[in-house]
Amino acid sequence: MMDRNEISQTSRSDNLMWGQPITAIQLDSSKIDAWFDEFIDTETLCTEEFEFSKCKTSNGVDKNYTIDYRVPMDIVYDEFSLFINDLGPKMQMSSAFEVPWINVYEKNGFQDAHDHQGTRNADFSWCYIHKAGDSHIVFKNRNATNSDNCLKEYFDAYEAHMDFVPELTGKGTLYIFPSAVLHAVSPNKSDSPRITISGNVRVLPQEGGRPAESPLTAE
Ligand SMILES: [Fe+2]
Repeated sequence: MMDRNEISQTSRSDNLMWGQPITAIQLDSSKIDAWFDEFIDTETLCTEEFEFSKCKTSNGVDKNYTIDYRVPMDIVYDEFSLFINDLGPKMQMSSAFEVPWINVYEKNGFQDAHDHQGTRNADFSWCYIHKAGDSHIVFKNRNATNSDNCLKEYFDAYEAHMDFVPELTGKGTLYIFPSAVLHAVSPNKSDSPRITISGNVRVLPQEGGRPAESPLTAE
């Protein structure tokens, strides 16, 4: 007879959502608020739009690469280091942060399901909620079937099998998640805009292992 312990998940994997370390953290927003108010003008910075979405972004805008993002990035870096330590690193790791970008969702603004792996093969991504509006992120299990989704009518364990909205959704929330995880942003029902700061990270062993020929740089 099989020992029950042999087939149990570890406590760590019990905490993962669909096997993915999707994490939400409530931060003190005061430093980022002050930085944003002093240095960011979304009218002139966020001038592009994502396809199949209704959202203004600074992603890909030349001016974005003139922004000094050190204030939010220092805060995110500290949280990211804790996140990485919780994953149980098997060696000393370093992380390469991509230049972040800012999204603005006016009333009814939303974003279609997408992931962040991109051409630079990012490993992890982050999204900080500067202003929440009446809107939230929705993480999506790309492996969920319609049958799985129907089972949520019967079982609590299936409640978040297809869509997962973390409890933390307000101003000051930082999400950290694997870049390959699909996610969307629900339509903003508020007259107040939703504003987010997002970025990608690639992790590398400090010595040997994965090659670093393609460091993340602003383009
Ligand atoms: Fe995203």
